[in-house]
This record gives sequence, C-alpha cells and structure tokens, in this order.
Amino acid sequence: MEGEPGKLAIEKNVVIIGMKTVYINAFSSIDNLEVREVDDLPKPQGTNVLVRVHAAALNRADLLQVRGLYPPPSGYSPNIPGLEFAGEVVEIGDEVTDIKPGTRVFGIAAGEGQAEYIVSHASLLVEIPERLSFVEAACVPEAFITAHDAIVSQGRLTAGDTLLIHAVGSGVGLAALQIAKSWDVFVIGTSRTEDKLERACEFGLDVGIVVRDVTDISAGVLEATQGLGANVILDLVGGDYFPEDLKSLAILGRVVLVGLTAGRTAEIDLGTVLQKRARVFGTVLRPRSIAEKAAATDAFARDVLPLLADGRVRPNLDRTFPLTDVREAYSYLASNKSFGKVVLELSTDN
Ligand SMILES: NC(=O)c1ccc[n+]([C@@H]2O[C@H](COP(=O)([O-])OP(=O)(O)OC[C@H]3O[C@@H](n4cnc5c(N)ncnc54)[C@H](OP(=O)(O)O)[C@@H]3O)[C@@H](O)[C@H]2O)c1
Repeated sequence: MEGEPGKLAIEKNVVIIGMKTVYINAFSSIDNLEVREVDDLPKPQGTNVLVRVHAAALNRADLLQVRGLYPPPSGYSPNIPGLEFAGEVVEIGDEVTDIKPGTRVFGIAAGEGQAEYIVSHASLLVEIPERLSFVEAACVPEAFITAHDAIVSQGRLTAGDTLLIHAVGSGVGLAALQIAKSWDVFVIGTSRTEDKLERACEFGLDVGIVVRDVTDISAGVLEATQGLGANVILDLVGGDYFPEDLKSLAILGRVVLVGLTAGRTAEIDLGTVLQKRARVFGTVLRPRSIAEKAAATDAFARDVLPLLADGRVRPNLDRTFPLTDVREAYSYLASNKSFGKVVLELSTDN
C-alpha cells in the first residue's frame, strides 16, 4: 500500500512512509536547519517499537549537533537531531510483549527524535501519565531522567540534604529542583537572570543566588548553610563555576558535573578536594548503552513517574513552536531566555 507523505501505511506488516524531520543540511549554524521529507524509515524489528512522534523538546546538545560538534553515536543520522520525544505507538517488533499499539509513550533517544516517526527500543519507553498532553510529556524525558540520574543515582541525595543547582531555571535544573523538593531537601539555585530565580521560587526554591561574579556562588552558599556547604551540587554550567563548587561543598559532598556551557577548563585547588573528601562525578546520557539508559529510565519511572502522575511534579514547559518554525525554536533556546523546556510540535493533535 502506498503511503501519502507523512501518513503511515500499515498493511500486513509493511511499513512504507514518507515523513517530515528536522534536517541539518550543513553543519554550521541554525540557518542550515530545515524541515525535510525522508522516506527511509526502518520497520521495527525484534524488541523495537515504531512511535509516531507528536512533540519533541529541544536540548543544548542539539545546538552543538547543528554546528557539527556533537554527532550522535553510530547508527543514528547526524543530520536528524532530537534526544527525546512523546508520541503514540504504531507498530511493535515481534519480541515486544509489554507495549501495545495505541499506547501514549515518551522516552530518550540517542538521536533522530525530531521526526514524525522514530524507532525506539521498547525498554526506553515509558507510558505517559493520563494527565499530561503530548506537549507536556515531551518536556519530561531528558530533563527528568538526567536530573534524577545525576542527583539521586549518582549524587545519593537524601532527605535533609542541601542541594545546589546551577542554572536552576534550565530544563534539567527545574526538574532537579522539583524532585529534590518532593524529598524534603533544602535547595539553593543559581542563575545569571534574577527573574528566573523568582520564578523558580514557585517550584519551591529555598535560596536563589544571582551570579554577577562567580565568587557570589560560594559566598551565597556558605552564608545560606551557616558555613556547612552543600551536600550535593548539580553543575549544569562547568567552566569557572567548577572551582566554586569545591568551595561550596560540604565535607564528604558530591559534585555531579552534567553540562559545560561556561567552558571545558577550570583551575582548581586540589587541596580542597582532599580536605572536603569530595567526590566528583562526570556524566553523559547520550552515549550510554541501551541497558544503561533503560536502567536510568526505570529508576526515573520508579521514583518520579508517580509524582508526575498525581501532579506533585510538573513538566517545565516554556514555549512551543510548530515544526515549520524550527529555526525560531532553536534560536530561542540559544538566546538563554527560556525558563524550562522548548518544544517542537510535530502534529496538531496535542
Ligand atoms: N550530560 C548529560 O547527559 C546532559 C543531559 C541534558 C542536559 N545536559 C546539559 O545540562 C545543561 C542544562 O541543559 P538544559 O537543556 O536544561 O538547558 P537550558 O534549559 O537550555 O538552560 C541552560 C541555561 O544555562 C544558563 N547558561 C547558559 N550559558 C551559561 C554560561 N556561560 N554561564 C552560566 N550560565 C549559563 C542560562 O540561564 P541563565 O544565564 O539565565 O542562568 C540558560 O538558560 C546544559 O549544559 C546541557 O548541555 C547534559
């Protein structure tokens, strides 16, 4: 059966489609992004599932991929960005037993998420709670799985701790803030934008530090904690924030380094690492194996999904753009004006 472009044709397990994707036609700037029709979608085999994507959020990694600086792992097109999606299952491989066509799902991907259809390993899919629309669900996977994996699985955050989050108004930052507040953690956040700190207070932020000079960070944290410091630091910024992390850390504290928007290098006092008996973790989600990603997804589903399902934790949607406005969406993310997630709508049925 022939499919119209953008329409799925399934008959006797034959899948032939044309679909629209975000496409990087040259690796340099956002101006080289376009929406393109492609027709080489694989049929889901074995433990894979074909998902019709309704909405897909953007990530800083997409901005790097556009410039050719962060290619996906092998097996994924470097031209089609997208690390997360929300949509509906349309076909399952013959070894998939626990997901049915029609189920609303969201998940992380190593690439190709910003397309009308994606093939995902079944173990990376989570059923979307009923109260969330596709657009709201699209805000969840990358931000909440990254945040949960960093502060809980690696940082060992527990009730009664103090958590410092840099760029707390970011997608990952707001996710970490909400997870931490649901566990009775004292949360300090930084931002260069005062307004983002005020808005983060609505999500339960206890203390906001406006960063005009990086030394504001340790001064603010030590003042807010009576000199004790933070037990866990979620560093989404890197660069010259990192030496401040060590100064802001409590004895036996943990720094989880997740992002490097302020740069890849820093000069640190190794003596502080020893004196604080500090633990420093670096982490990335994208290049992990399917089994590692499934473990992070399962841990998120165990701890955070119930909070999303009953509304104690909310998706952090800033703004949506139709697929046709993909350049505007990327430019908006790059402007650092967003508070939470920027979402591309790939269907009108959201
Ligand atoms: N390792 C992983 O697996 C993984 C996964 C997801 C995300 N990440 C990383 O985590 C970070 C947050 O991601 P996101 O998608 O949540 O980000 P986002 O929503 O785009 O927000 C990032 C915020 O960081 C702040 N910022 C940007 N450049 C900065 C600089 N030079 N110095 C200080 N602050 C700066 C800006 O806020 P203000 O200036 O207003 O404070 C900006 O809005 C990014 O670095 C991203 O690459 C890593």
